[in-house]
Amino acid sequence: MCGIVGVIGRQDATQVLLKGLEKLEYRGYDSAGLYVNDQQGHDHLVRRVGRIAALEAAITPAVTGTMGIGHTRWATNGKPTEANAHPQRSSDDRFYLVHNGVITNAQALAAQYLPAVTLASDTDTEVLVQLVAAFVQSGTATVAAFKQALSLCEGSYACCLVDRLDPSHLYVGKNKSPLLIGQGDGFHVVASDALAMLDLTDQFIELKDGEVVTLTATTCRIETLAGEQRLREPITVTITDGAADKGPYPYYMLKEINEQPAVMRRLVTAYAPDAAAPVVDPALLKLLAAADRLYIVAAGTSYHAGLVGKPLFERLANVPTEVHLASEFGYHQPLLSAHPVFIFLSQSGETADSRQVLVAIQKQGFKSLTITNVATSTLAREADFALGLHAGPEIAVASTKAYTAQIAVEALLATALGQAKRVPAAASFDVAHQLSLAAAGQQAVLDATDRIHALATAMFEDTRDAFFIGRGVDHAVSLEAALKLKEISYVQAEGFAAGELKHGTIALITPGTPVTAFISDPVTAAHTRSNAQEVEARGGHVLRVATQSLAQPGDDLVVADLDAALTPLVTIVVGQLLAYFTSFDRGYDVDRPRNLAKSVTVE
Ligand code: M6R
Repeated sequence: MCGIVGVIGRQDATQVLLKGLEKLEYRGYDSAGLYVNDQQGHDHLVRRVGRIAALEAAITPAVTGTMGIGHTRWATNGKPTEANAHPQRSSDDRFYLVHNGVITNAQALAAQYLPAVTLASDTDTEVLVQLVAAFVQSGTATVAAFKQALSLCEGSYACCLVDRLDPSHLYVGKNKSPLLIGQGDGFHVVASDALAMLDLTDQFIELKDGEVVTLTATTCRIETLAGEQRLREPITVTITDGAADKGPYPYYMLKEINEQPAVMRRLVTAYAPDAAAPVVDPALLKLLAAADRLYIVAAGTSYHAGLVGKPLFERLANVPTEVHLASEFGYHQPLLSAHPVFIFLSQSGETADSRQVLVAIQKQGFKSLTITNVATSTLAREADFALGLHAGPEIAVASTKAYTAQIAVEALLATALGQAKRVPAAASFDVAHQLSLAAAGQQAVLDATDRIHALATAMFEDTRDAFFIGRGVDHAVSLEAALKLKEISYVQAEGFAAGELKHGTIALITPGTPVTAFISDPVTAAHTRSNAQEVEARGGHVLRVATQSLAQPGDDLVVADLDAALTPLVTIVVGQLLAYFTSFDRGYDVDRPRNLAKSVTVE
């Protein structure tokens, strides 16, 4: 989604901003811009629709400065045009602002406070910067005007403001959208994601909702909107910049798919180092053991990982578990059990849909755990407990290694909980061994990459539609495989419970329609095979993916056996590679599919 960078105190502000914006490209955007000021009376605003490369091409040698702000915009209010790109400026040309999030009452604010101002864009961001200018014009000092404007805003914002009459300061505000201040020797940076500035510093101050920061090159004052000063030490962000490089792979997605066996092994080392019982914070286990029901809340791929987690918690920890879409739960909360505990699954830890549920359930006094790949994220900080995915930075918009890491952490946690509760199924479950089998099984799929590429070509080269079917966990994998294919190759793909085909969807099967059947559940394998035959009887083109012990002659891909609840760790790798090669062969930008953002920070 939108990305923010800012810097004060560096001679090379333009380059710092450009490099930072490039690091944020993975989040998804459709226009970009920057403002720089040399603090000697010269400044420049450059904005372009499209890629950072277009912005870079528009920057002449004269565009230099010692401070500035930059932005990648993923359009929400208003189309992706230059006028709507950030930085937005006030009509008096004094204030420049970059902003992430959505100010939901922008129209009402404009009507009430800016009746005489002609807005030059369709953005809520412009309303905010015009408000600051209006309050300053009526005699308020800049920082006070900034706070006044922010305290009127409803919705979410992370923003960075420049006052051209005083370029020795940068002003920063945050509510619900993430923002960090980086500290260096004689300079400060601002970033919506630490990755953007990691080559300049690893020291970052996390901001809380409702805080405003006044920065100079060497000072940093944090205060609340009410003016109460806050003192906070920086934390060290440990991810290395190199971990976010593509290495020899043409796209991050392929690199991240290939990292999955290593992530499985890393999780075993992190959570079950002596391979006996997983090690989990006893206070967390106590909380979970007291729950009469778990509510897993997530979005997209993380939701699909939750669907795989449900039977793990029910079987290994003997606790009823529900899985909910965050975007639905927040506004239609189901009837809850007497002692619920909430588990938020989120790669980024910043998904606004999930965060609004976290805020809502905390208001009701319920406890929560976040399982995330980003230890410093909002959901990790705000939940009562957090567990890491240890997957390393995931850059491609399509989530792959985070999905399998989420399932693995669910398995580790369910086992630890079951063992703490003395559930017999958990006592005999060797989760470390299962994850080792998963790593080996994933590697075997990766070793068959060329064959899967050929199958992707045969199945999906020209198709507009595709179906994925399975039962039980294979149904959950079908949903995820379909999401992977649709989001990066734009094929209309659907995942179905195999038994549901005959209740309607089979009407869509015509000669050649590609249907991938996942067969890893011994209880329902025969039924899924029958459903596949029903598809073939109508001319559909079926690709069968089966586990070794259930394989039959003619199956297209045979993958390793492991506990039936954990087969998604291996079968999905087939789905990921099918999607990757379909997108790659069609010539799409695999890592940055159209209209999508990596970190979805608006509801
Ligand atoms: O960061 P999160 O796991 O909370 O993100 C949730 C979804 O936005 C995400 O999984 C999305 O569906 C991915 N593009 C899927 O590949």
